Amino acid sequence: MLLETELRGATAVVCLSNPPVNALSSAMRGAMFDQLSELDSRKDVAGIVVAGSGRCFCGGADIREFDRPARHDEPLVPALINAIERSNKPVIAAIHGVALGGGCELALGCHYRIAAADARLGLPEIKLGLMPGAGGTQRLPRLVGLEAALQMILSGDAVSAARALDLGLVDQVVEADLIDAAVAYAEARAGGGETPRRLSSLDVPPLKDVDSVIEAASARFVARARGLIAPGHCLESIENSLSMPFESALARERELFIECRESEQSKAQRHLFFVEREAAKVPGVSKKTPVVEVRRAAVVGCGTMGVGIAVCFADAGIPVTVHDASKAALDTGFERMRAIYQTAVTKSRLSKREMEARLSHVGRAEDLAALADADIVIEAIVEEMDAKRALFRTLDALCKPETILATNTSSLNVDAIAAATKRPDRVIGTHFFSPAHVMKLMENVRADATSLETIACVMRFSRKLNKVGVLVAVCDGFVGNRMYHNYTRQAAFLLEEGALPQQVDQVIYDFGFPMGPFAVGDLAGLDVSWRIRKRRAATRPSEERYSPIADRLCERGRFGQKSGAGWYRYQPGGRKPEPDPAVDALIVARSEEMGLERRTIDEKEIIERCVYVLINEGARILEEGIVSRPGDIDVIWRHGYGFPVHRGGPMFYADHIGLKKIRDALLCYYQRDGDATLEPAPMIEELVKKNAGFYSR
Ligand code: 3HC
Repeated sequence: MLLETELRGATAVVCLSNPPVNALSSAMRGAMFDQLSELDSRKDVAGIVVAGSGRCFCGGADIREFDRPARHDEPLVPALINAIERSNKPVIAAIHGVALGGGCELALGCHYRIAAADARLGLPEIKLGLMPGAGGTQRLPRLVGLEAALQMILSGDAVSAARALDLGLVDQVVEADLIDAAVAYAEARAGGGETPRRLSSLDVPPLKDVDSVIEAASARFVARARGLIAPGHCLESIENSLSMPFESALARERELFIECRESEQSKAQRHLFFVEREAAKVPGVSKKTPVVEVRRAAVVGCGTMGVGIAVCFADAGIPVTVHDASKAALDTGFERMRAIYQTAVTKSRLSKREMEARLSHVGRAEDLAALADADIVIEAIVEEMDAKRALFRTLDALCKPETILATNTSSLNVDAIAAATKRPDRVIGTHFFSPAHVMKLMENVRADATSLETIACVMRFSRKLNKVGVLVAVCDGFVGNRMYHNYTRQAAFLLEEGALPQQVDQVIYDFGFPMGPFAVGDLAGLDVSWRIRKRRAATRPSEERYSPIADRLCERGRFGQKSGAGWYRYQPGGRKPEPDPAVDALIVARSEEMGLERRTIDEKEIIERCVYVLINEGARILEEGIVSRPGDIDVIWRHGYGFPVHRGGPMFYADHIGLKKIRDALLCYYQRDGDATLEPAPMIEELVKKNAGFYSR
């Protein structure tokens, strides 16, 4: 049953019951339409309360239906909401949990809104490459004013109940029983004989400097959208609320919404929404899997990564003890945490009180024994196997038996680290990405002996830390860095053959990445990967193509932004990359040394060499079972490396381009260049034969 209706006196309470989030599926819309029409015509009903059962009021339109052919769609969400608004009886939305997207628009179609104190309301459609398509761009500005509506719709961020009350988005916030309060509200409105407040009949509140408000929103959200269509469509539709009659503006909103919904961009963003949730599901792990609750955490190592990880725990309200060998290192680390929070305070993202509250979760310990009671210890020390094994041996001896020992290694074998302990079932990799308090990804690395309980615990607490956890198996570089390695290799070869860093970076930026590989290298510090390359030099096959240009930069002390020069040069203290003739000369000299005649390399080749090689390695990773689903790779690349959101991740993008085209291009480069990473992976060959894709295997 999709609706549960009960009569409380003369007020009908209609409760949406469509787990998990009461999405407005076509069946739900039909049921609501019929039920509300019936209630509207009943003499014994004076008012109506619309509420949600379970975890929330309503999570919006059913996103899954957007990819299906629209056959049984009537009534559409706008028609349902218009019908509710037309009712002559007061209709009250009683909101708990979330009212998002179509759920928020449903609430806006009701005449009044009452929210529980923990409720959140928002129009997050833009995060799915969509825009509000059921009156949100018209009713919200009429209710909260242009400026707040622009902010909410263009950011897609939800607001708390308290903020919603300030904005006038809700009429009341209640701590006590929500339904009782909503029924009382309905009775009062019905008893007073008031005409229900229909937002469609209001004007947007007047504003003096409309043009500058719109310009500011456009500069902040549309100009920076880099080819995404949804922000521009949202803005156009909101502007219509100022100049067009409600009905015409609503019709235009629908047209724009459909354009967004049908776009490849939104399909890709919706894909990411679902694979992100899929990634949390681990075969063999269920709700019944016993999980250690992480109540106390510890981090060993107070460098950049350790500090970032400790901040993640403090943000989540989990007490965390940080260990480093010296008081000086601990104090420096703690000051770095304070600096991170201070930046958030300066930008008004955090109050000073909240900053102090979060810092109060952080303890400092010079003595490792202070970590004995932690439920999880995350190691973030120097990337050296011997040091890590020694630390794990010590931790194993001193921590309580249930403690999970996790390593933040980005490249070392977690099996070998686990083997240093007597609890390999409780050892796992938790690979955070830098800066750890910002980047959403956690690559959780299962070693051979890692138990399902340990996996379940770490996957669950990734979410608690507001991260997206993806489970991967052990291999060199795990998933992200293994693929990234091949991508940067090709980028370096392109330099040897005729390109320059600024050219490659521009093409990759235009493809949609936040930065190209060379600018990223300068930001991360070229010495980091130099150290890893030196370590691996002895085992690198002699026949493998290797570009020494990055090593030569490092030999000249060019470590990237931190040394004022790397692939680019930087003004003192500056972060803006400037092409450097000295680097160009180094590159040209390398081409000469190789006897290569430099040629013009076009955009197509740069994309194909850099991005297709990623896809190829992704296919090998799937073949080897390092991850079980192509979606896991897409999530890793979206959240760890900024793969353009509107392309849905490398594997989704591959299916969009077509594997045959990708295979043919790879083969062509492989036959020309002979580099093994360009040889089409067997999985790609097989899928091409079957005329299939990664997602239609
Ligand atoms: N449609 C279909 N399924 C949805 C959904 C939706 N709108 N929202 C969530 N789900 C599904 C998820 O896929 C997941 O399914 P699974 O269990 O099979 O993996 C399940 O509901 C639970 O979702 P979460 O794991 O995300 O649960 P949380 O409790 O952490 O979060 C939520 C709940 C805040 C509602 C979050 O799911 C969310 O943000 N959902 C999307 C909200 C949204 O973007 N709404 C706008 C939709 S477009 C729209 O309304 C257009 C309109 O303008 C016409």
